[in-house]
Amino acid sequence: MENQQGKNKKKLWGGRFSQTTNEMVEKFSASEHFDRRLYSQDILGSQAHARMLARCGVISPEDAERIVSGLQDIKLAIENKSFDWKPELEDVHMNIEKALTDAIGEAGGRLHTARSRNDQVATDLRMFVREQIFLIDRLLAGLQGAFIHQAREHLGLVMPGFTHLQKAQPVLWSHHMLAYFQMFRRDRLRLRDCLGRVNILPLGSAALAGTDFEIDRFMTARELGFDDISANSLDAVSDRDFAIEFVFVLSVIMMHLSRLSEELVIWTSSEFSYVELPDEFCTGSSIMPQKKNPDVPELVRGKTGRVYGHLIGLLTLLKGLPLAYNRDLQEDKEALFDALDTCSACLNITKFLVAGMKPREDRLADDSRTGFLTATDLADYLVKKGVPFRQAHEIVGKAVAKCLASKKELTDLTLSELQSLHPEIDEDVFRVLDVRGSVDSRKCPGGTGTIPVKDQLHEAERWLADFRLT
Ligand code: ARG
Repeated sequence: MENQQGKNKKKLWGGRFSQTTNEMVEKFSASEHFDRRLYSQDILGSQAHARMLARCGVISPEDAERIVSGLQDIKLAIENKSFDWKPELEDVHMNIEKALTDAIGEAGGRLHTARSRNDQVATDLRMFVREQIFLIDRLLAGLQGAFIHQAREHLGLVMPGFTHLQKAQPVLWSHHMLAYFQMFRRDRLRLRDCLGRVNILPLGSAALAGTDFEIDRFMTARELGFDDISANSLDAVSDRDFAIEFVFVLSVIMMHLSRLSEELVIWTSSEFSYVELPDEFCTGSSIMPQKKNPDVPELVRGKTGRVYGHLIGLLTLLKGLPLAYNRDLQEDKEALFDALDTCSACLNITKFLVAGMKPREDRLADDSRTGFLTATDLADYLVKKGVPFRQAHEIVGKAVAKCLASKKELTDLTLSELQSLHPEIDEDVFRVLDVRGSVDSRKCPGGTGTIPVKDQLHEAERWLADFRLT
């Protein structure tokens, strides 16, 4: 196809080219509409690069000054929306560099000395991910605070614990809340670990082979707050592990949010009615007037798939790439941005949901009294009287079967009925069959007894107050 459109256009790619870029190709390859999100990192990175070039004598201090202040003006223009983004300039990097050269002339043309867009974009993206790690960490801290609030507010409240979604043993509501606290604690530790690998400076790797200018990469690293510089230029320009790892951490966070959401959907069903969500966080039905639907947790659960999709997308994007930079890598950003935006929106709204939910104490109490939640306690009681555990398990199993046939609970049995199970059974069995007695007997660290749960709560509060990403 004849390339007609370029008659009055300047060639973007310099002397090597005799034609301007086809308009279709321009459209197809442009990324400025999404990678403009990296503008502030791009500008900071360029300012640090220019200062370093001047200090190393590669460009003059005057040129560096012009570049730094020219870039500052561009930043302001972008922020007050007067910047003229041009898709034909491909990406955020070229848009900013071109605007700089238009504004300050020749000095602007010196900025790209000793670098390439390949190390530039890798640097920008690492700065961006670094910043976002801190933001996600703050959101996680907020959510953890909501769980602590729930745990503290209802200390002592007993509820059924489940395995296989079948009633299993009584637990404290606070213990259940703190289980989520622990999940999000690990997520924050994962973020910290990820940060260590993100915060490495690629700039100075240039296109792929490094640069022949005598630059000081450590100076740039210091100025931009990087912990270290990359060790291999080929790796540095083509590595996106750091972004994939970050999206992996986001995926694990989403997995945790989704598990919580699933519980909220179950708990708010009329069959369970364990918690009440604030009306303002639920929606009604356009046809069924009685409905109050848990749309927010359902959406969080649904959006989890979307974030996993981005993780798989990124892994797949990288799997066939030879060293070093390949244009495929431009596809990393939308996946990263969307995973990030989705996860932060979910974290934010879930915090309000958790803070605002109310356990239905009446329902939790009623439901704890049925379903043989203390059957294991009875078996353990017999063990303490000298019966081997397997035998005790058999005896209690038979008792449960009998109760089921006569629509009774273990607590409905009289002492003599209980003694017919085993002669060693005594008055003190009733304390064991009581759900609160059961809960409080689980005193070992990490268990659901009031004492270990209080310890856990204190430790969680201390951790939340002390933990800082560094
Ligand atoms: N927009 C590109 C990206 O995001 C920047 C690097 C382009 N480099 C190149 N050699 N074409 O990957």
